[in-house]
Amino acid sequence: MDTYLTNSIRIILFLLIVLTASSISAADVELDEPILPLPLAQDLAPKVVAIGDKLFHDPCLSHDNTISCAHCHRLATGGTDMLPKSFGIRGQTGAIKAPTVYNSAFNFVQFWDGRAATLEEQVSGPINHPLEMGSSWLEVVNKLKADPEVTVGGSLPLYSQSSTI
Ligand code: HEC
Repeated sequence: MDTYLTNSIRIILFLLIVLTASSISAADVELDEPILPLPLAQDLAPKVVAIGDKLFHDPCLSHDNTISCAHCHRLATGGTDMLPKSFGIRGQTGAIKAPTVYNSAFNFVQFWDGRAATLEEQVSGPINHPLEMGSSWLEVVNKLKADPEVTVGGSLPLYSQSSTI
């Protein structure tokens, strides 16, 4: 086969591959992977986001009111404290580095070893961990009930409203 013919066949094959690939859109492909492309838009209620933001930065979630989630997951530095190991209440050093929390809602499992399946399952971890926030849900809810920003007459209207949004 002469060189001209060989090159022509190569070019045709190349074009065929490129055209075939570009004609397959994401919608045509059945995606059954643990890691998926992030959605381009999120339909989140601003009030719920505001509550989440307040809680994330609220040190009252820790036993001695010194450590918020943001202490170890600093949003200004990529969602992590950038330390080899994080430290919690009373300056206690933890066992492992804090991962970023950016886009963690889209993780297929939570924590480095994947021991929590969802964010809802994950969040009790730092609240109860003696080296991290050293608290409990009972303690947290009682403190929030006493917070004039979120409570009216001993109930938590801001939080109960969020469940209906
Ligand atoms: C004292 C530091 C510290 C505090 C406070 C803390 N975290 Fe973490 N966070 C960590 C560490 C360390 C890990 C990794 C633990 C592991 O994998 O065993 C982690 C893991 C996570 C993950 C999993 C991310 C992933 O990619 O797997 C999420 C989500 C998270 N934290 C959210 C929170 C929230 C919400 C709060 C507040 C309620 C919080 N963290 C408070 C240190 C902290």
